[in-house]
Amino acid sequence: MPAIIVDLTWDAPLRLLGGLHALVLSGRASWDDLDAALEQDRLPDLAARPIQTNEVRRSWALLPCFLELARRAGSDTLDLIELGPSAGFNLLWDRYLYTYDAGLWGVPDALLELDGEERTPVPAELLELTPQVRRRVGVDLDPVDVTTDEGALRLRSFVWPGQEGRLERLDEAIEAVRREPPKLLRGDLVELLPKLLAERDPEVLTVVFQTAVLGYLPDERWSRVLASLADAGRDGSLAFVWTARPAEDVHGYWGLWLQLWPGNGPELVAHADFHGAWLEWLA
Ligand SMILES: C[S@@+](CC[C@H](N)C(=O)[O-])C[C@H]1O[C@@H](n2cnc3c(N)ncnc32)[C@H](O)[C@@H]1O
Repeated sequence: MPAIIVDLTWDAPLRLLGGLHALVLSGRASWDDLDAALEQDRLPDLAARPIQTNEVRRSWALLPCFLELARRAGSDTLDLIELGPSAGFNLLWDRYLYTYDAGLWGVPDALLELDGEERTPVPAELLELTPQVRRRVGVDLDPVDVTTDEGALRLRSFVWPGQEGRLERLDEAIEAVRREPPKLLRGDLVELLPKLLAERDPEVLTVVFQTAVLGYLPDERWSRVLASLADAGRDGSLAFVWTARPAEDVHGYWGLWLQLWPGNGPELVAHADFHGAWLEWLA
């Protein structure tokens, strides 16, 4: 057995599998000859890469939240700030075509079409709203540049063999980013968010959002994010959409939460599958 040395952190098996999958996807190895794959010189470097995923189907669950905010704020223009966007697929949510029970929303000839199971339907009136995204920016510790083959391979290697639908959506999202990449800043969202908020245009509703990032932030750092938002929210024209548990003792799926300033506190508007496969609209 060859000696593959990986740091034995909790994610070591996933990093090793991601490294092997990268070798298979690039034609350098086969799942049918694992011994040979494990001997490959490139494997230790590939297995040292932190796990990176960017699940574009989350946009299908997020879209009604953005529309709901536009409705409540009476805004037909939005500026977006995504916290932890990875490659930025969900920053491009307005470039896709969506199917809901009540109808379609989005760009008819989009590169990517998204749908899912509605456990309670998204209201038809929401889908009539068409707010325009004026600016978009994301801030990530480790943004993935999928305009390069290496960046695309990195994300593809963490979608496991057999998950064909996910891989197909990923490839379409990569093409959408390549057509017009969003601006992604490299840095710590806790540190950069106050500056981004200070620079926002008070005439336009700024929507800050995050999916699947909260788990990376200890409570104290998450509290700093909330404090930055509350500070900036005093000037109004600000909204936040985020994924978190629907309630303290609920596991297994997400709550989608909204907050709009000026206004009331956080509001749970939906339950959703972690990858956006189903949605239960509550608002
Ligand atoms: C599981 S991925 C989720 C990506 C994307 N939001 C999605 O839903 O598909 C978590 C992302 O958060 C980023 N991240 C974690 N901690 C961060 C921090 N303190 N500042 C900026 N980005 C961070 C990671 O680099 C990674 O891209």
